Amino acid sequence: MPQPVTVTYSIWPEPKAVALAAAQFFSDAVTRAVATRGAARVAISGGSTPKAMFALLADPAQPFAASIPWDKLHLYWVDERCVPPTDAESNYRMTKEALLSKIPLPAEQVYRMEGELNPEEAASRYETVLRNSMKLEGAESPAFDLLLLGMGDDGHTASLFPHTAALEEITRMVVANHVPQKETWRITLTAPVINQARQVCFLIEGRAKTKVLAEVLTGPRDPERLPSQLIRPTSGSLRFLLDEAAAAGLPKPDNRLTAPGGAHTVDTLEL
Ligand code: 6PG
Repeated sequence: MPQPVTVTYSIWPEPKAVALAAAQFFSDAVTRAVATRGAARVAISGGSTPKAMFALLADPAQPFAASIPWDKLHLYWVDERCVPPTDAESNYRMTKEALLSKIPLPAEQVYRMEGELNPEEAASRYETVLRNSMKLEGAESPAFDLLLLGMGDDGHTASLFPHTAALEEITRMVVANHVPQKETWRITLTAPVINQARQVCFLIEGRAKTKVLAEVLTGPRDPERLPSQLIRPTSGSLRFLLDEAAAAGLPKPDNRLTAPGGAHTVDTLEL
């Protein structure tokens, strides 16, 4: 049985509040990493949920764009679709449109997964990017300061989809993963790399995720069917930022803390 992991989950009434909390969480993590280590290494996911957070990070009317030390941030991806960076499906394109085109993050500190290449070649090249940019020696694993994840309604996270080969990968950092459910290939960080992060944060919203989130957090372990259950940071923290719709299936203990201002509640559970 794996070591128990404490999950902290915060619940806000609706997605806009989750996005703002996520932007604050991102800003705090970057600022803290820069103060501690002189740089911040963050890996982000794609999909639709992070868009609102990226927009807030870039919004001049919000405090983040002016306060985050962008020149000390190194930005990576958790996964990418096997498409060119200009494709509507590209996680890089989504991030560029919502964030990168609006903030002063040096281009040489943006490490794009090359979705336009042969999947295996792209995975191998990204592993080299991780090693070189983080100056990793031998079997040393990358330790991201913050790693942001989403979760699909099938329980996948990153591009670790149910019953796919990438779930079994325990040595490589980055793999090409064939996803028959989507009749496509993806490039993805592997679970062991994700679990080395100092902070892992899921952003999950909407009724479509209610049932699967409850299964992932409170149901029996079945990571082949629910790959998000593979995410158990080795020594880092694991947090879920949720809206009420996504959290509707989670236990409602009466000792759930309501944060100052009553905007959200915070709870923990053991995985
Ligand atoms: C991707 C993501 C993926 C995403 C989930 C949730 O490439 O699509 O990395 O893992 O986080 O599919 O996506 P939504 O945020 O759109 O629900």
